[in-house]
Amino acid sequence: MKGVVFTEFIDHAEAAFGEDVVDDVIEEADLPSGGAYTSVGTYDFQEMVALVTGLSKATSVPASDLIHGFGVHLGGSFQDKFQMFFEQQDDLFDFLDSVEKHIHIEVQKLYPDAELPSLKMVDRAGDTATLRYRSMRCLEQLACGLIEASAGYFKVPIEITLSRGEDSGGQYSDIIIKKAAA
Ligand code: HEM
Repeated sequence: MKGVVFTEFIDHAEAAFGEDVVDDVIEEADLPSGGAYTSVGTYDFQEMVALVTGLSKATSVPASDLIHGFGVHLGGSFQDKFQMFFEQQDDLFDFLDSVEKHIHIEVQKLYPDAELPSLKMVDRAGDTATLRYRSMRCLEQLACGLIEASAGYFKVPIEITLSRGEDSGGQYSDIIIKKAAA
């Protein structure tokens, strides 16, 4: 997993729970990297699992809530760091459709070792769209947080529901996004 995800995670966790809590979590997790992340590095995804698990234990916040909150934070920093991808679209659903078709393709060119999910827009009609998320990392709550942050950018209130399924391609999570009346 890319270092930028780790540095953003540490920043977010420190802002939410304080530096001391995060320092303790890093120490207890006994990480191969020692927790000294740089945005240009690449680290084992298991280190992220260990950090989230440790932070959840230290704060009593469920891991899925931590990942979701981190997704909202990460979405905000993507809006600063990769503003052009947001500016290229006028509509939330067009933007979400562009993540797999354009944004993550560019990300992969920039970071050839990036491990990206599959995010297909399998349904779109009127105010509702469905993104089908597949990834071995099972970070659908990260995706939901990123989608909420994106909706904030496009100033569209949304409601999200998750529905899990399985087909010949394996397990997936359908993220159903409904634009709510303002
Ligand atoms: C400007 C917008 C975006 C940029 C620049 C971007 C870039 C990235 C980068 C750099 C990673 C880390 C890859 C790695 O660690 O190896 C990542 C992962 C991920 N991205 Fe995006 N992303 C964007 C928007 C989105 C949006 C809107 C969603 C959700 C709909 C999304 C879903 C995810 C998920 C869930 C992961 C975690 C990896 C996984 O689940 O397997 N991204 N993205």
